Amino acid sequence: MAGEKSEQKLWGGRFTGETDPLMHLYNESLSYDQKMYDADLDNSKYYTEGLLKAGLLTEEELSEIHRGLEVIRCEWAADSFVEKDGDEDIHTANERRLGEIIGRHIAGKVHTGRSRNDQVATDMRIYCRKALTNLEKILTNLIGAILQRSETEIDALMPGYTHLQRAQPIRWSHWLNLYATYFVEDLKRLKQIKERLNVSPLGCGALAGHPYGIDREYIAGKLGFDGCIGNSLQAVSDRDFVVEILFWCSLFMNHISRFSEDLIIYSTAEFGFVKLSDAYSTGSSLMPQKKNPDSLELLRGKSGRVFGSLSGFMMSLKSIPSTYNKDMQEDKEPLFDALVTVEHSILISTGVISTLAINKQKMFGALTMDMLATDLADYLVRKGVPFRETHHISGEAVSQAEKLKLSGIDQLTVAQYKEIDARFGEDVVDVFDFEVSVERRTATGGTAKCAVLKQIKSLKEQL
Ligand code: ARG
Repeated sequence: MAGEKSEQKLWGGRFTGETDPLMHLYNESLSYDQKMYDADLDNSKYYTEGLLKAGLLTEEELSEIHRGLEVIRCEWAADSFVEKDGDEDIHTANERRLGEIIGRHIAGKVHTGRSRNDQVATDMRIYCRKALTNLEKILTNLIGAILQRSETEIDALMPGYTHLQRAQPIRWSHWLNLYATYFVEDLKRLKQIKERLNVSPLGCGALAGHPYGIDREYIAGKLGFDGCIGNSLQAVSDRDFVVEILFWCSLFMNHISRFSEDLIIYSTAEFGFVKLSDAYSTGSSLMPQKKNPDSLELLRGKSGRVFGSLSGFMMSLKSIPSTYNKDMQEDKEPLFDALVTVEHSILISTGVISTLAINKQKMFGALTMDMLATDLADYLVRKGVPFRETHHISGEAVSQAEKLKLSGIDQLTVAQYKEIDARFGEDVVDVFDFEVSVERRTATGGTAKCAVLKQIKSLKEQL
């Protein structure tokens, strides 16, 4: 690349000096924006149809252009596209190559009225639309895998936690549904973002609009857009869709991270609720007995990296004057990295959740009678005592059991209960059953079997 001549560049006409080789490296984006080759070729394919419609190309020229574009598409697909000095980005590389295939005379007409500014903005939207469609698909699979477990393992009970302290008994399926609910919301949000970004900037030129009265709506329709962006200045410089996607990725990874953190805790020997399959664990180079949940730790760790992409790009955007400025090229690396990271994270999560084994005995064994203290208070509520009072009375039972060094509140005799409060009856013993406690939570969203099944049904319907 040393001492590259400026006339080799597509914009080189007015330049006489050479480009500093480091400047070429600093400036180029082909190394990472070649991912968008398909979008860029589609862009040119339909843009030139618009040029034909505006009388700026003949039928013969158009068919030559289309032939050339398909040759280039095959080269990229076969990994045989040869990059040349002066190729700055995917747009200049494709245009240069088109000239080699069909001759510069016709190829030189493709860019009539188009700028790389509206071109790149369009390519990005096409690329993102496809990437989001793929994420929707694999996220739907992840939710499906979670819900399937939720259905088949509905009988497993375990402690539910607040402050990471044992709180109340819940179904394992209820915990699974917690994340299925988050992910269904993520899916809905993803669809909204896709809908919002699906408008076309093409035909806005560098900034001011198109001088040949091109039919933008026609081209937009051909490219699968729902419409056109209404202001050319905004069209070429809007990257809010990139920010929205990066935010989506960050929030999604936040959910994935919390999901992973729970499973890491549940997989420790101290908990032993779940056991990861070998496919998603690794060993220690020193301690032969170790089996580490690396998959989950990476899912948790990568959430930071994705959020870094969001905050980094927002900083790049914040003081850019209108309209296009080269800073905007900095949208690609964080976006592409976040998209790949999220894609892999969804696939790994799906693998982890579909292959782990649960230990129902360990889950049940972690339930302790103090977790029914609220149920004890509820027992008196059913006898007409105000909750604030019953809360206090139940607390007294807990402290009494502790004082007497009993293993739990179920060990106090009925007589001792009557001493604490005369309104306790013989049936107080019925409170001390975890299944009964869980089955009382029948209201929508609760952990009773019927309520959990209702959640599964509703989540499935939202897919
Ligand atoms: N590679 C550039 C980008 O990604 C394409 C647009 C270049 N436009 C320009 N006026 N230099 O932003």
